[in-house]
Amino acid sequence: MIDRLAGSLGIPLPWLDRAGRLSWLKLAVFAGCIAPALYLAAAYRLDALGAKPITALIHATGEWAVRFLLFSLAISPLRRIADWPKVIGVRRMLGITVMAYAVAHLTLYAVDQNLILTKIVSEIALRLYLTIGFVALIGLIALGLTSTDAAVRNLGPNWHRLHRIVYTIAVLALVHYFLQSKIDVTDPVFSAGLFLLLMGWRVMRRFKGPERPWSLLLLAILAGLATAGLEAAWYGLASGVPASLVLAANLDFSGPIRPAWWVLAIGLSLPAMALVRGKRATRQPAGGRVASPARRPAPQEALPKPLSPRA
Ligand code: HEM
Repeated sequence: MIDRLAGSLGIPLPWLDRAGRLSWLKLAVFAGCIAPALYLAAAYRLDALGAKPITALIHATGEWAVRFLLFSLAISPLRRIADWPKVIGVRRMLGITVMAYAVAHLTLYAVDQNLILTKIVSEIALRLYLTIGFVALIGLIALGLTSTDAAVRNLGPNWHRLHRIVYTIAVLALVHYFLQSKIDVTDPVFSAGLFLLLMGWRVMRRFKGPERPWSLLLLAILAGLATAGLEAAWYGLASGVPASLVLAANLDFSGPIRPAWWVLAIGLSLPAMALVRGKRATRQPAGGRVASPARRPAPQEALPKPLSPRA
């Protein structure tokens, strides 16, 4: 019923594949995309967001925008390493979700400023972290608006060039995240560490070709070390805390586990996936598949396009 109504209105339903059939993967990802929004709306309605509910919502929507941005950047590695071509079908949905949470984030900020346009504009123009967030948001909107099939067709090769700005947008969003943090930068350091891991995978793919478990293990270790270095550098520059102290905190397990370890743990899932995939590929019957797509020479798509509707 909904399918037919949406079809007659020309609205693509997020849980249908290109052939118009139900895709359980898309349905699950769609549920994951709207779940934080539904949770936050319910928490607001139930007055469960503390003394400053709008501030809490600004923070939560900003965090979810960054999380979904990282999820969208993780699609290409997941597709290659896990040899899971279908996953590319959810990349556009994730990209649109980033834009939706970021727009909600700005809207809530505007509400917090009592919708006084002059105040909103002057704050964004005068506070560096807001200016940076604004530029990132404009970029996200540009990518979101050019994610339709028609835009992909009309822009041709320029579409790929345009959509590469997603990496710059991610850097801007992370800088915004760091700058708005008062003292504790654990969460932005963790997000930045994951971003380094995902970027490291792309660099490695460019220079080393198909990824092997050992290279991915090295990547995970390097991403963990880079995260620890970034954390030490930030604290050193922002608050003058000696880098050696911050680095040493990584080896003190009596308190919270530092973000570098979490990045390493997530990074280790990449070689683990490659190992499982390798075992699966060797179990293929002779005359079955010639080679796993993850081992084929890289196609022209050297850099993935996170908001791209398909591969
Ligand atoms: C015009 C654009 C934007 C404005 C006006 C804006 C405004 C804000 C404000 C006021 C805060 C809270 C600062 C505080 O409490 O001191 C914040 C935090 C944050 N924003 Fe934005 N932002 C913008 C764009 C973005 C974009 C595009 C992203 C991500 C894609 C983003 C991600 C975040 C994150 C992750 C936080 C921190 C949340 C936390 O620490 O819990 N923002 N932003």
